[in-house]
Amino acid sequence: MKKLKVGIVGVGGISEFHISGYKRNPNVELYAFCDINEQRLKEKGARHGVTRLYTDVNEMVKLEELDAVSVCTWNSAHAPCTIAALNAGKHVLCEKPMAMNGEEAEEMLAAAKRSGKMLQIGFVRRFGNDCAILKDFVDNGDFGEIYYAKAIYTRRHGCPGGWFSDKKRSGGGPLIDLGVHVIDLARYIAGCPKPVSAYGVTFDKLGSRPEVKTRPGEYKASDAGVTSDVEDFASALIRFENGFTIGIEASFDMNLPGENNIVILGTKAGATLSPDLKIYSTAHGYMTNVTLDMPTALDFNGLFEREIDDFVDCVLTGRASNAPAEDGVILMKILSAIYESARTGNEVKIDC
Ligand SMILES: NC(=O)c1ccc[n+]([C@@H]2O[C@H](COP(=O)([O-])OP(=O)(O)OC[C@H]3O[C@@H](n4cnc5c(N)ncnc54)[C@H](O)[C@@H]3O)[C@@H](O)[C@H]2O)c1
Repeated sequence: MKKLKVGIVGVGGISEFHISGYKRNPNVELYAFCDINEQRLKEKGARHGVTRLYTDVNEMVKLEELDAVSVCTWNSAHAPCTIAALNAGKHVLCEKPMAMNGEEAEEMLAAAKRSGKMLQIGFVRRFGNDCAILKDFVDNGDFGEIYYAKAIYTRRHGCPGGWFSDKKRSGGGPLIDLGVHVIDLARYIAGCPKPVSAYGVTFDKLGSRPEVKTRPGEYKASDAGVTSDVEDFASALIRFENGFTIGIEASFDMNLPGENNIVILGTKAGATLSPDLKIYSTAHGYMTNVTLDMPTALDFNGLFEREIDDFVDCVLTGRASNAPAEDGVILMKILSAIYESARTGNEVKIDC
């Protein structure tokens, strides 16, 4: 079978996970790299044996034989780089969040439809072992009607700095960066209902607290610097057309321990996903707590590889993606509505 020739746009921190996923996929040839930071571009090229190096995405996508690209730039470059690649006839896997806002996301989807190429969004948590198990139970009807979910992704002190705290390049703080993961996961587990409105608040009470020591190993942007002008904490209620509601909390900085969890409430059972899947139900008039006799905690081993394998398989076989651009647009509309609600103090309608 002909190998898929893949390029990477933006060769910073997360690109390593895409690169290692492509490298171990036997149907892929890692073909070209692009980054506006020439030194990083050369280092990455040398490390991974890639010699076609570009500082301008428009030049890279002129390579006729290039089939697909991963867009791993900071958020403000997702739309221009993705649209340039689609217009040049390449398939795209674009990192989360899809874009800076709902309008940009719609333009990307329109470009994908015009080109007839695949546009997949990096909703990597959909490929988690924990998500797969919970979804098995949900799809088999064990929860009955799911009517509420809590989606929490909070850090006590964990702003990655650099562009993550520069609104012009990120579009926002923990809500758009971390919240996007858990809102998508909760909505995905609940069967992807359509959102109708959001009411949200954001706070900037602590800033990024540079005077507080960061735990070793905390995720950092490739280029540090820039003082923070994004929120440090966000909370919102998102309503869906079937009545399902998500309560979300996300933070980079707060005076409480951080948490990364999804809680779902159904008419037949409820569940907490982290640190291990626990299902709470009733049987024969007794309250029952169910745990599985196997590891159910999110395992990062193999997580990005499954996402990359799915993208490659979709491109090669033409089957639909498990993380389609349509869901990326919906997520961006939800995030934009929450930011708009936080700004105005009103509930904001979402038109999908
Ligand atoms: N899926 C996940 O769990 C996860 C985790 C971390 C980051 N991300 C996402 O990945 C993306 C990148 O984050 P990161 O942590 O790797 O950031 P990073 O700062 O480490 O790397 C970003 C790179 O993009 C390059 N870049 C910016 N604009 C460019 C352009 N127009 N053309 C080419 N290169 C350009 C920068 O020079 C930099 O090297 C973000 O969208 C982020 O939200 C996803």
